Amino acid sequence: MKAVDTLGEEHNAVLVVLSRLKQAARAAAEGQEVPADVFIDIGEFLSVFVDRCHHAKEEAVIFPLLREQGDNSLVDRLAADHETGRHLAAELARTIENYIPGNADAGQRLAQAVEAYSNLLEQHIQDETELLFPAMIRLRREADLQIVRACDRIEVEEIGEGTHERFHAMIDSLPGRLEGVHQG
Ligand SMILES: [Fe+2]
Ligand SMILES: [Fe+2]
Repeated sequence: MKAVDTLGEEHNAVLVVLSRLKQAARAAAEGQEVPADVFIDIGEFLSVFVDRCHHAKEEAVIFPLLREQGDNSLVDRLAADHETGRHLAAELARTIENYIPGNADAGQRLAQAVEAYSNLLEQHIQDETELLFPAMIRLRREADLQIVRACDRIEVEEIGEGTHERFHAMIDSLPGRLEGVHQG
């Protein structure tokens, strides 16, 4: 099933970014001067790639198909996670806006928001891997093509051509940009 592979790859990219974000936030909470643009770029990734693209794909096409085959309680739970994630991401975006490199108080507020958001999203991804993917594999054969087409359309409409590549380049740039940042 191709759609499961695509979503799995997107989850892996999200997990890599979250681990870099946690590293940067821990350093910021200690008062290290983490460049603000690291948090700004990751914040954009969370809003555009995770919410407007990845979550939108799941909500627009996968969840309705799963409801048709009776997986309502699973879909309710995952959709509620997306909603909670939106609130936590908004809070995180506020702390990123107010971040001042070298200011430990601002860094601690940012780190708390990062922890709440990443805890939710990491658990959510684990639940999707263990429960959503097997449920998708149970869908009828034609559903996979339907999902892949809808996902391609959302990708173009929501993030535009080339943005995926730009995000991957951003992810690849993070280790270098965090080179001087030490783990607490
Ligand atoms: Fe999800
Ligand atoms: Fe997902």
